[in-house]
Amino acid sequence: MRNSKFFSTACLASLIGLGFLAISFSIQADDFTESDLKRWNQEFMSVVAKGEKLFHSAELGTNKVSCDQCHPNAANTHPETYPKFQQQLGRVITLSEMINWCIQNPLEGAPLPLDDPNMTALLSYITWERRGVPLAPGTH
Ligand code: HEC
Repeated sequence: MRNSKFFSTACLASLIGLGFLAISFSIQADDFTESDLKRWNQEFMSVVAKGEKLFHSAELGTNKVSCDQCHPNAANTHPETYPKFQQQLGRVITLSEMINWCIQNPLEGAPLPLDDPNMTALLSYITWERRGVPLAPGTH
């Protein structure tokens, strides 16, 4: 009897807690303006532009090779198919790992940390080039 009273009080408390959580989330979700959206889009597009520049430059490697020599405009990099099994690495990998494989092998460079701003820029450019293409993870 005592236990069930405790149980129902605990249930009520967690319901109230959930309610507050839902309210605070909905407030957060609505909490931006048109000018925020414009600014966020500008921030994103500036990172895409940085990625495009890197993709067409030789600064990621040591042998003067650039990504666009084998992948003009990132056209055949298929970001929508990741994560997928990649033969070169022998396991299921993310797009970042494939980018690092190309930096280390064709470009003979040092792999980028996954949170490196240059990695974010490359990912942004490569996926922006394929915007609108349906996701198809795991396919070849
Ligand atoms: C000398 C040629 C060459 C260069 C330069 C090169 N790559 Fe690659 N890239 C390859 C090869 C070969 C593959 C493997 C092809 C495959 O598995 O489809 C590949 C695959 C990829 C893939 C996956 C494609 C897919 O369909 O799964 C991505 C993404 C990629 N490269 C990004 C880059 C980036 C970013 C750079 C520059 C840092 C770069 N590559 C430079 C040859 C190159």
